[in-house]
Amino acid sequence: MDEPMLEHSSNTAFTEPSSMQLRLVDAGVILGIETSCDETAVAVLSGTTVLSSIIQSQIEIHASFGGVVPELAARAHDHAILTTIRAALDEAHLGLDQLDAIAVTNGPGLPGALMVGVGSAQGLALGRHLPLYPVDHMEGHLFAAALEAPVELPALVLLVSGGHTEMIRVEAPGAYRLIGRTKDDAAGEAFDKVARLLDLGYPGGPAIERVAQEATAPSISFPRGLRGEGLDFSFSGLKTAVMSFVRTHPEVGVAEIATAFQIAAVDALVIKVDRALSLAPYASVVLGGGVAANELLRTMIRQVATDRGIAGAIPAKRYCTDNGAMIAAAAAFHRSMGDPGVSAVDADPGRTLIEGV
Ligand code: KG4
Ligand code: ZN
Repeated sequence: MDEPMLEHSSNTAFTEPSSMQLRLVDAGVILGIETSCDETAVAVLSGTTVLSSIIQSQIEIHASFGGVVPELAARAHDHAILTTIRAALDEAHLGLDQLDAIAVTNGPGLPGALMVGVGSAQGLALGRHLPLYPVDHMEGHLFAAALEAPVELPALVLLVSGGHTEMIRVEAPGAYRLIGRTKDDAAGEAFDKVARLLDLGYPGGPAIERVAQEATAPSISFPRGLRGEGLDFSFSGLKTAVMSFVRTHPEVGVAEIATAFQIAAVDALVIKVDRALSLAPYASVVLGGGVAANELLRTMIRQVATDRGIAGAIPAKRYCTDNGAMIAAAAAFHRSMGDPGVSAVDADPGRTLIEGV
């Protein structure tokens, strides 16, 4: 997206903050299945309570390759899916006959990985005569915030994961408007690539965060992509700057470089969030996606919200990275809006939350 989709010089396109909320409503007992990337995740949501949320991580499988290997991810999901479903039901003390619906991520994500979740969900739905809800993974990340407390609308949502970096305005429940996105790498991808460069392992975000805790304030400052312009993000310049710094400064320690990178990456996100909040009225700012587990980002977004006198909706870390509860929560929302679900669904690896972008 070259230009933000909104005319920011005027606020006439927006409503003033009202008492509207994005809230989880009781839509029965829903099994949520998530296999879009490298976590086999299944949860049981009963009404507004998460009864169980099991996450079978594939980190060990992909670690030696420095990133997710799609074929191995699909095989590992296939290996783990039935036991993970069983574990989620057991922890919830429920049987399949007590479910009201099945929710599954059907995109965006890795094709083979998605097909495992979709196939299992479809089999369960067919076998138990249950409605099936194909959920957009990014909408799931958005609903992670609503799992814990209602979200005040209109909300500015920053979705930051391994494949996506987007800012979305949620005007009303289900009414999404893209106002900014990355022009190149996703924020999580930048963390992963820099971690690989620094030999810190995979996944890069937690590895960089860990190392950064050991460092003192860095003397290096890396660039914040597109700092002065608009609401889009760019992380490729930052990655290149780190690469060339590493090449030319072999004497500087990894911890200092990782810290300087983390500060620049988080600042690049926060600058745009703050700008978006200055351009239109919002009642809250919401964080979602794996990078939202980053402590520095959480602290800075909380501060921005406080400074602007609005609510900060920052999900617990276990709901920031991929999980089944957020997928069930998104399905609960669609159910509560009268969506009857479907009986069959295909994986849709290129699915987008907002049409036309
Ligand atoms: O949402 P997610 O679990 O999976 C995708 O949908 O991509 O996000 C994974 C991404 C990875 O790039 C990972 O490095 C990043 O989130 N991540 C973090 C942290 N924890 C996970 N990035 C920065 N700090 C963290 N603590
Ligand atoms: Zn995700």
